[in-house]
Amino acid sequence: MEIRSATEEDLDVFVDTVHAAFGLFPETPTEGGGLWWSALEMDRCLLAVTADGRPVGTAAAYPFELTLPGETIVPTPGVTAVGVLPSHRRQGVLSAMMRHQLAELRAQGAFLSVLLASEATIYGRFGYGPATCTAQLTVPRHKAALAAPRGRAAADVPATGSDHGSVEVLRRTECGEILEEVYDKYRRAQPGALSRPHRWWALRAGQPPISPAPRYVAVHRDADGVPDGYASYSIASGTLTVDETIVTDDAVFTALARFVLGHDLVSQVVFKKVPPEHPLRWQFADFRAGEVSGVMDWLWVRLLDVPRALTARGWFTDGELVLDIDDPFLGEHSRFLLTVRDGKADCVPTDRNPDLSLDVRDLGSVYLGGTAPSTLVRAGHVQAHRPGAAVLADSLFRADRSPHCLHWF
Ligand SMILES: CC(C)(COP(=O)(O)OP(=O)(O)OC[C@H]1O[C@@H](n2cnc3c(N)ncnc32)[C@H](O)[C@@H]1OP(=O)(O)O)[C@@H](O)C(=O)NCCC(=O)NCCS
Repeated sequence: MEIRSATEEDLDVFVDTVHAAFGLFPETPTEGGGLWWSALEMDRCLLAVTADGRPVGTAAAYPFELTLPGETIVPTPGVTAVGVLPSHRRQGVLSAMMRHQLAELRAQGAFLSVLLASEATIYGRFGYGPATCTAQLTVPRHKAALAAPRGRAAADVPATGSDHGSVEVLRRTECGEILEEVYDKYRRAQPGALSRPHRWWALRAGQPPISPAPRYVAVHRDADGVPDGYASYSIASGTLTVDETIVTDDAVFTALARFVLGHDLVSQVVFKKVPPEHPLRWQFADFRAGEVSGVMDWLWVRLLDVPRALTARGWFTDGELVLDIDDPFLGEHSRFLLTVRDGKADCVPTDRNPDLSLDVRDLGSVYLGGTAPSTLVRAGHVQAHRPGAAVLADSLFRADRSPHCLHWF
């Protein structure tokens, strides 16, 4: 079996193979676009091919940007379209593709890569760790009264929730570039968020509201009329489902929540893809009004160059930590002294005794600040070699804002 880069001529065979791996049939192309695979770039795709020339496995990577804690934006490959034909599974095809792809990404200068996992049992062995979670928040409308912010009377809170903003409902097809522009502003300030390249919007590749699926979009504008948030939604059987709420400010989220929760002929509102700890729950007069469910891992992170990755992100507490890191898939072992001063980290090889011993996938899980290292110590994944090491690691790795990603790819 050989792993090779795909070319433009391989597009059909690549698309057929990845669909067959998932037991699906490719949709027929239509005029409005909307095929998820149209955003693939063939020179970033791999094919696993048998000795007699049959394609049996696929993997690809999108050229995204990822926002790290401290609003640092770094180029990041988003691994996707991973599949092996049912007839060729458990024979090491995926392992060979992962090895090839990680080496290629490193050679291209990537210091980390990310993916979404169809099953949580697949990617840990390749060094990926779950780094962000997402959930849905269900709110029955009869419980949906939002409490006035502390110190303000309910009568003083305007209908939009923000002081001088406005909400306009558009059809998805009427939104023009608004969604792309608002998403871009949002993702630059949100750790864990990925860019959505213009190509995706132009090709309408992905899930709503990028795809051409019919949706209404509540667009929020600030006092000057500049769009600063949107909620893409549809209504069926009395449930208003919000695909995603993208905002550049928490008050705008409140304004959009107030808008959808006030919708007539709706018995409940489901906010999809929200951080499990979203502040909206705290804003209801009834703390039990918002039910969080479907909490699941979303973005998985794999570090390919630990010092570059650790020095790239922003840091918020000074301190020193010696990390002993095992990377069994790549057969690497390293020990680094991480020193944080004034928001910047230095990370150099050291012989000092380690504070923490961990697998590279655990480092991926804590990297964006969404998982406390002490949780992984308690889970038995990470070993702390001295009292206080886990607490120090918690305060060092914590982000300015908890990471979240809602882009599907
Ligand atoms: C997931 C998938 C790509 C695995 O491919 P594969 O070629 O069978 O994987 P490998 O043979 O290289 O397996 C490597 C190891 O991972 C394990 N593994 C692979 N898939 C697994 C799964 N779904 N659940 C648990 N373990 C899995 C194998 O048992 C093997 O373990 P070992 O090293 O201890 O023997 C394949 O099953 C598939 O195409 N599934 C459907 C599509 C899909 O879910 N793709 C992933 C999208 S994110």
